[in-house]
Amino acid sequence: MTGLFVTLEGGDGAGKSTQADRLESWLRDQGRQVLRTREPGGSDLGHELREIVLHHTGHIDPRAEALLYAADRAHHVATVVRPALARGDVVVQDRYLDSSVAYQGAGRVLDAGEIRDLSLWAAEGLLPDLTVLLDLDENAARERVDGRGEADRLEAEAADFHGRVRRGFLDLARDEPDRFLVLDASQPVDDLAAAIRQRIQTLLHP
Ligand code: TYD
Repeated sequence: MTGLFVTLEGGDGAGKSTQADRLESWLRDQGRQVLRTREPGGSDLGHELREIVLHHTGHIDPRAEALLYAADRAHHVATVVRPALARGDVVVQDRYLDSSVAYQGAGRVLDAGEIRDLSLWAAEGLLPDLTVLLDLDENAARERVDGRGEADRLEAEAADFHGRVRRGFLDLARDEPDRFLVLDASQPVDDLAAAIRQRIQTLLHP
């Protein structure tokens, strides 16, 4: 049995963790082995990189930031994700390379194509079987994030940054319609979970 690689993407506050939780428990009920993981921070080394990239107090040069996420990705894919897929697990992952393209590209300094190439190099070409994009208006997302307490370095970016991130994700989804399932994240949690399950069913039992 070969595994299945599912990633959840979207802006901060779009509801990725909630949907990942739902999906994980449904898959387990189906008798599947599930690896639930995330980037940044899904490996031992990644924990340390996550601390730097989210909580470093000084400025981080955009290229350095892109490389930190890429380093996290390289180690995570090689030591956590690929072994799980080889075992036949379903990998349910919060954020992957599309986040790099949308976020690091949204600063307008770096070219989206270059960031994608860097991520693909880091991950030795591994692309998800399915990427669920939870799309939410940046103002609605901001209200959800503000309710959580202290913002990290990226959450604290201005609204226009998050607007560019959102458009970045939608551009990616438009370019690869077969890989992406785009959902309106303002819908009820149960409806979103059902839509995701339906798509996964078709991948598990083609
Ligand atoms: P996340 O773990 O979703 O944050 P939280 O646990 O606080 O909800 O992601 C951390 C931040 O990192 C998020 O703002 C998006 C950003 N990010 C990038 O900028 N590039 C990347 O490649 C990834 C994976 C995340």
